[in-house]
Amino acid sequence: MAIPEKFIQDLVDRSDIVDVVSGYVRLSKRSGANMFGLCPFSVSPDKQIYHCFGCGKGGGVISFIMEIENLSYPEAIAFLAKRAGMQMPEETDSAEGRKRARMLAVNKEAARWFYANLSKPEGAPAVQYIQRRGISPAMVKNFGLGAAPDTWESLRNAMREKGFTDNELFDAGLVKRGKNGGFYDAFRNRLMFPVIDVRGNVIGFSGRILGDGEPKYLNSPETLTFNKSRNLFAMNLAKKSKSGYIILSEGNIDVVSLHQAGFDSSVASLGTSLTPEQARLISRYTNEVIIAYDNDGAGLKASQRAIGILEKLDIKVRVLRMSGAKDPDEYIKTKGPEAFRKLLEGSENQMDYRLRAIREKYDLNVTEQKSDYLREAVELLARLPDEVRRQVYAMDLAKELGLPPDVIVNDVERRRKRLVNASFKQVQKEQARPEKQMQPAARELKYDDPASAAAEEGLIRLLYLEPALVTTPGLPPPEDFSAPGLGRIYAVVRKRVEKGQNVSTDHLAGELSGDELGLLVAILQKPEMLSRSRQSMSDYIAKIEERKQLRDGSTDLMALRDQLKKKKGYEG
Ligand code: CTP
Ligand code: MN
Repeated sequence: MAIPEKFIQDLVDRSDIVDVVSGYVRLSKRSGANMFGLCPFSVSPDKQIYHCFGCGKGGGVISFIMEIENLSYPEAIAFLAKRAGMQMPEETDSAEGRKRARMLAVNKEAARWFYANLSKPEGAPAVQYIQRRGISPAMVKNFGLGAAPDTWESLRNAMREKGFTDNELFDAGLVKRGKNGGFYDAFRNRLMFPVIDVRGNVIGFSGRILGDGEPKYLNSPETLTFNKSRNLFAMNLAKKSKSGYIILSEGNIDVVSLHQAGFDSSVASLGTSLTPEQARLISRYTNEVIIAYDNDGAGLKASQRAIGILEKLDIKVRVLRMSGAKDPDEYIKTKGPEAFRKLLEGSENQMDYRLRAIREKYDLNVTEQKSDYLREAVELLARLPDEVRRQVYAMDLAKELGLPPDVIVNDVERRRKRLVNASFKQVQKEQARPEKQMQPAARELKYDDPASAAAEEGLIRLLYLEPALVTTPGLPPPEDFSAPGLGRIYAVVRKRVEKGQNVSTDHLAGELSGDELGLLVAILQKPEMLSRSRQSMSDYIAKIEERKQLRDGSTDLMALRDQLKKKKGYEG
């Protein structure tokens, strides 16, 4: 699906990078923001790019969204389009795209209707059920829960009034066809859970019977928009969590309870056992999963299967052992959120383990040793990226040492701030060192021939800044570049320039890897004298060809040359 260039340009014009970034981080004037862990981060309003000095990530507004929301290029475009109130062109392009768009529209309307029923008399049984299960109004809203009333045609009528046809409702799985050929509501007398994908589309529904009865859950059938094995319930919410891991449980109700108790990274696998596709979806957001399946034989078996699937993707897996409760919902209801957090941390244990290792070095009855322990523990806690976890541990530490909690919490935060600042300065200093400045942040892109790479960078920079230079005679083919990464960037930029297409980082984000894009942004930030651009261009080309010939010559000869150079104290 190719998205028209014009659309991307309009979108970028309407999505100011400073606005977009400010939605995620507070940008301070001096040091930018601290966005990826301890990385210093800056946004340039004139160039409409962001750049992270620490990890080398960078790009335009689209790649920023790809990075922070963990989306693919087309998904990031759709995300920004929604934000800018623009209609995505592809959705109306093909017949199937149109059908899909209609299905998403009817699902959304149906979800609204189910939700609205909660404030009407026909929704009263569902409201009662919600109360009985202890689900808070905030969670009803968060998940968009709703009521399917105990009637045969209410949804059908409501949707037909909105202009949807019986066939459209049928394809979406919202109505069924009776023996006499008529249509009736598929979901009746149920608590409705909309299933929302990571782009925010309502793709289907899961309806729980109010009380006892069969089937307990009724799900949308497989449709153009609903594919159970590729989606996870609540992934749309969990992907925003700052916890750093995903909690995988079995039931929708478990997920709601977990979120209500503050565990906002919980998802469930829609009644199937975890599939490889679902695992891949998870791996886009985290490399750590905590399995909280039901405490029974089936749950245990499902856990074993899930572990195998997740570990294949290099995801760290821990299994929660809930004794005395059949599932997370019951555990939280009977023992409380704190107990569940302990369980999680027990399953995690790394931090506890490291704290204990420090503690064991000291005798806490000796005042001086106690303060040494405190200092070392604070140092360790300050390195935790998650603020909530820092606070929880700081409070535990305070309790252990009999000190006021705020004092320790403040200590940790102060130490954290100092660490962040120090890392910023460190990176700045390193960037100032010539050889560091030369090498890309991403190790895979490392330059073997820095002298050639400098010229290759220059060529890319000039081509980017002055596309007209693409007519310079003797432009080398990408294969002549010493650094394969630079060769790829060059090939993409050159191809686009030749076609007269836009080369802004936003257009390139779909064709370059994140590391390559980051490298391009770094290259663009190095100075270039445009007043003598033609001359520079020829110099760069000559340099690249010269180094190429040198590399093509016998490697022994090159080694010899390099040795000689070193002896004479030349620079490469
Ligand atoms: N499920 C299903 N069809 C069923 C039963 C279950 O699709 N007939 C799926 C649902 O997604 C459900 C999950 O499997 O959420 C787990 O089932 P279960 O543990 O029985 O449901 P809970 O969500 O835990 O609900 P409750 O607490 O009300 O028992
Ligand atoms: Mn359950």
